[in-house]
Amino acid sequence: MKIAVAGKGGTGKTLITGTLAHIFARNGYKVLAIDNDASMNLAFSIGIPEGTRKTMVPISKMSELIKERTGIDGADSGIYNVNPQVSDIPDQFVVVGPNGIKLLALGTIETPSSGCLCPGNALIRTLLYNLFIKRNEVVLVDFEAGLEHLGRGTAKGVDLMAIVTEPSQKSLELSLKIGHLARELGIKNIGLIFNKMRDEHPIDSLTAQIPSGDHFVILGNIPFDEEVVQADLRGESIFLRNPRAPVVQAIEGVYGKISALFNLS
Ligand SMILES: Nc1ncnc2c1ncn2[C@@H]1O[C@H](COP(=O)(O)OP(=O)(O)OP(=O)(O)O)[C@@H](O)[C@H]1O
Ligand SMILES: [Mg+2]
Repeated sequence: MKIAVAGKGGTGKTLITGTLAHIFARNGYKVLAIDNDASMNLAFSIGIPEGTRKTMVPISKMSELIKERTGIDGADSGIYNVNPQVSDIPDQFVVVGPNGIKLLALGTIETPSSGCLCPGNALIRTLLYNLFIKRNEVVLVDFEAGLEHLGRGTAKGVDLMAIVTEPSQKSLELSLKIGHLARELGIKNIGLIFNKMRDEHPIDSLTAQIPSGDHFVILGNIPFDEEVVQADLRGESIFLRNPRAPVVQAIEGVYGKISALFNLS
């Protein structure tokens, strides 16, 4: 299964992707997490130790490697057009974190005016679209904030787009827009996850605004949790810090909804 996590900036995409990675791993899945955000935060929410984090080689370098070897642009070289498997991704680009979670990252901007991360993005798109996933494997992609990745079609070929929404009109409207674009991209399952919910935010008033014809699935209602703020202050993974934290329990609920949606046992 390939799951993309998208949404407005700061809504909790990285927290949710990293925590879901752990929950899938605990349930016996082999997890490949892909950080498609140039800020490269996913390693923190998975809890990859600093030493390992520093060894990460961004996928843009894989693009360069392919270009070097084949003389053609990595993304268009055809290398990933024939149902590659997760194990075919060169080891040097994947770091292995706690619970055996593998992480692959788009890469970051090292110097100003150094150009676009387009080749890396194109490679992720090709890889995601063609990757052959076994029944016990899951790929989770943490997207950059906003809509631009939809313009690039990076998520084409994912089985589920989970859109993270804060309790605000701006966030909900952008989420609906993301959902509509995702549908036009051909993604069949589109879900909404409400995050940072407080007691005064009744979920019904938000879900009432979702046009019924959209068939977006409500995947979760995650509370604002002070412990996440504490974990973030220290650059820790909330799952590793406290697997019983309310936020982790609520994300277990998201896992349950995804399992039901895809009839996973
Ligand atoms: N349920 C929650 N309770 C408390 N704080 C939260 C919760 N979810 C996210 N946060 C906080 O909100 C901030 C943004 O979270 P996160 O980095 O996961 O969002 P994001 O959508 O990935 O952001 P970006 O768009 O910058 O990539 C972080 O400081 C995080 O600690
Ligand atoms: Mg993020």
